[in-house]
Amino acid sequence: MTTTGSAPEFDTAEIPAVLPDDAALAALAPTSVRAGGLGAAHAKVIVLGEHSVVYGRPAVAVPMAHLRAHAEARAVEGEVRLVTEEFSGSISELPDRLAAAGIAVVAALEHLGHPIRGVEVRVRSGIPAGRGLGASAATAHAIVEAVRSHVGGMIEEDDRFDLVQTAEREAHGRPSGLDARVTRATTPVLFQGGAIRPLQFAGPINLVVADTGIRGSTREAVSRVRRVIESDPRRGEGLLDELGALALAAADDLTAGDLRRLGARMLAAQAVLEELGVGHESIDRLVDAALGADALGAKLTGGGQGGCVVAVAPDTDSVPRIIEAMERAGAVGSWTVGLEA
Ligand code: PMV
Repeated sequence: MTTTGSAPEFDTAEIPAVLPDDAALAALAPTSVRAGGLGAAHAKVIVLGEHSVVYGRPAVAVPMAHLRAHAEARAVEGEVRLVTEEFSGSISELPDRLAAAGIAVVAALEHLGHPIRGVEVRVRSGIPAGRGLGASAATAHAIVEAVRSHVGGMIEEDDRFDLVQTAEREAHGRPSGLDARVTRATTPVLFQGGAIRPLQFAGPINLVVADTGIRGSTREAVSRVRRVIESDPRRGEGLLDELGALALAAADDLTAGDLRRLGARMLAAQAVLEELGVGHESIDRLVDAALGADALGAKLTGGGQGGCVVAVAPDTDSVPRIIEAMERAGAVGSWTVGLEA
C-alpha cells in the first residue's frame, strides 16, 4: 500500500521513516544514548460510513501510511511541557486547539504510573488538521507511544485505544473510535462495534484524496447530524441504516475489486451525507471535478462541511488526470492511496 501527496511535510529528519514498533526503536540506539522516546502514527481515509459509525453502523477505512504525525518525549525539569510548530510551553497554558494533545500526554503518564511532571513532548505532524484525515487521533497515538517509549513499560493495544479515545473525546465530543483504530492499522479495515477486521481486497485500487482547503469541525458536524436525526428520528434512522448498508456492501466491493459498484455506492453515500447536513459547496466542486475526469465515484470523507474528498479512480493511469481536475477545481493538496493485492 502506498500513499503519495503534495501537501507540505514537516522536517522529519531525526525521526525514523518507518512507523516504529518496540523492536525497531530498541534497535535504533541503546537506551542510555537515546535522546528521547519516539512515537508515530498515520492518517486515515474513510471510504464509507462516516457519521453513521457514531451510531453503531459499520464503516470502511484505509490507512494513509505515509502521511504521519510524530512525537518525541524527553526529560525536563518541572511541569509537563508541549512543543508544536505553533506553541511551546507548559500544559497548564495550552490553547484550546491543543487541549486534546495535552490530555494524551497526561493520560499516558498516568497510565504508566509516572508523575505528571518532568517530561516534554514535541509534536510534528504532516497531517492537516480539520480535514477528516484523523489528525487528532494520529497525534494522540504518536504522543502515547513517545511517552511510553521514554518512560518505559508496556501499553496493551486496547489500553492505547482507550488513552487515545480519552483525548479524542476532548477533540470531538463523542468519537466512534474509528480514527483511534485506523490510525494504527496497517491494512484497509471494516470497523464495527468498536473493533476492526482487516479487509481482503482485489487490487489495484487507486483512491485520490483531495483537500478542499476548508477546515471543518468534526464536533460541529457530529452535532449537526444529531440535530437532523432528532428533528425526524424515523427518517434519521433510515438514513443511518442506508449509510451502514452502503458501507457493508462497499467492503464486499473492495474484496471483489468491483470499483464501478464501489464508486456508485460512494455517490449514493454523498447524497445521504448531504441530507444529514454535512455537505459543502467546496465538496461538490471537487466531487464534480473528479467525476468529470472519469473517477467512478467521489464523496466527502471524515466530518465533512469542508475537509477532504475521496475519489476512486478506474485505473492507475487516470489518477494524475483526476488530481489535476480536482486541483483546478480548488483543491489545495492531494494524496493518492494505492492498494495492491
Ligand atoms: O473528521 P475525522 O477525521 O475526525 O473523522 C470523523 C468521522 C466521524 O464519523 C464523523 C466521527 C467519528 O467519531 O467517527
